[in-house]
Amino acid sequence: MRGEVEISGAKNAAVAIIPAALMVNGVCRIENMPQISDTEMLLTILSHLGSKIRYINKSTVEIDSTSVNFSDAPFNLMRKIRASYYLIGAMLGRFGIAKTTMPGGCNFGARPIDQHIKGMEALGANVEVRNGFVYAEANDGRLHGARIYLDKVSVGATMNIILAAVLAQGRTIIENAAREPHIVDLANFLNSMGADIRGAGTDTVKVNGVESLHGGSYSIIPDQIEAGTYMVAAAATCGDVMVKNVIPKHLECITAKLRETGTIVQEYEDCVIVKGTSFVRRANIKTLPYPGFPTDMQPQMAVLLTQANGTSVITEGIYDNRYKYVNELRKMGACIDVDGRVAIIEGGTALTGAPVAACDLRAGAAMVIAGLCAIGRTEIEDVKYIERGYENFVEKLRALGADITAVNLPDMPENQENVNQAG
Ligand code: EPZ
Repeated sequence: MRGEVEISGAKNAAVAIIPAALMVNGVCRIENMPQISDTEMLLTILSHLGSKIRYINKSTVEIDSTSVNFSDAPFNLMRKIRASYYLIGAMLGRFGIAKTTMPGGCNFGARPIDQHIKGMEALGANVEVRNGFVYAEANDGRLHGARIYLDKVSVGATMNIILAAVLAQGRTIIENAAREPHIVDLANFLNSMGADIRGAGTDTVKVNGVESLHGGSYSIIPDQIEAGTYMVAAAATCGDVMVKNVIPKHLECITAKLRETGTIVQEYEDCVIVKGTSFVRRANIKTLPYPGFPTDMQPQMAVLLTQANGTSVITEGIYDNRYKYVNELRKMGACIDVDGRVAIIEGGTALTGAPVAACDLRAGAAMVIAGLCAIGRTEIEDVKYIERGYENFVEKLRALGADITAVNLPDMPENQENVNQAG
């Protein structure tokens, strides 16, 4: 693949910032909003809750949550996405009461929310999970500050507790907090609306509760994982791609790992240029919380490593079962052994096109990369997963020279993509 690709706003920042707008007694103007199904779903949920949503253009939206009510909470939508758990912190923080469904989202094994609940209870809420719903209520009508030590480094729990704490009475300290860039982005958004959050991006976050949040404007950071996905696609197809609108600092771990495989990565102010090599070196990867190698880049890197010379080992440090896509890659000729959280990848295997399925969001993107490397045509089903987190995925890849089309065949499962080997 050759050419330039523009990165959109960060999905995992946007899916926390939209619920955060529910806490603002005024109008939030949010720029660089990614046009993906997860954000569209959350904006629909907020409109059911009474927020006024106005699209200024395709990537700028205004959310006015001055008068909201929960009479029409769309539980059927909430249970479809993981990020609906942020509605607990947002509702509880502003109104002292919340009712949501248990979250949905990609299935990589158990994805409990015990640390979220631990945080809400520490802030003075009574939380109950029954019949698939989460009920939470502030014991004294308003949450109070607390010191919370997270037993596990959790992105969602860190962000959810920040949401609940910004309007609580007093100071909250979150220790062993996650440090992802999207956590800093959420804190910066809330601070621009009048919150008082310090230390986001470190393992200790301090929140001084304020009385209310006012409206304002904010622009979401570029998506670290979308950028990484195109970087790996360029490496895997021996391409030459400029990935624009990125923050290179957020990509450091991905850049370092790609360089280990012999891929050339040139960093500039707000873009990186990635040049693939015909001799891909093997590499070992362990996924870890930021700034470690991101778990959301694990499937994509596995595809690149099937093209490497030698044997590579991936250790999944975050989830119990994030290798469902390996069976799909095996249909294309990949030689990968999985034992629990470890995958052993025999490199040097020419992939061949085949009918495969997208098991989840990032696995779906990985299957597309595999299709671009493979000899022949690959048909990928269930690409609705990909649309959850990648804006205009097919169009952006076609602009880079990929032979890819999205089709809805009447007698086939909807949302299928056909991918041929990249030029
Ligand atoms: C967020 O999920 C992202 N999703 C995921 O991205 C990402 O893989 C993950 O963070 C890790 O970076 C969103 O932001 C919407 P965690 P989240 O809480 O918050 C365990 C994508 O592709 N845990 O950091 O659910 C959990 O089971 C998606 O964009 C508990 O045990 O992740 C996991 O093993 C996929 N108890 C680990 O911690 C809890 O209360 C990290 O989970 C919470 C989490």
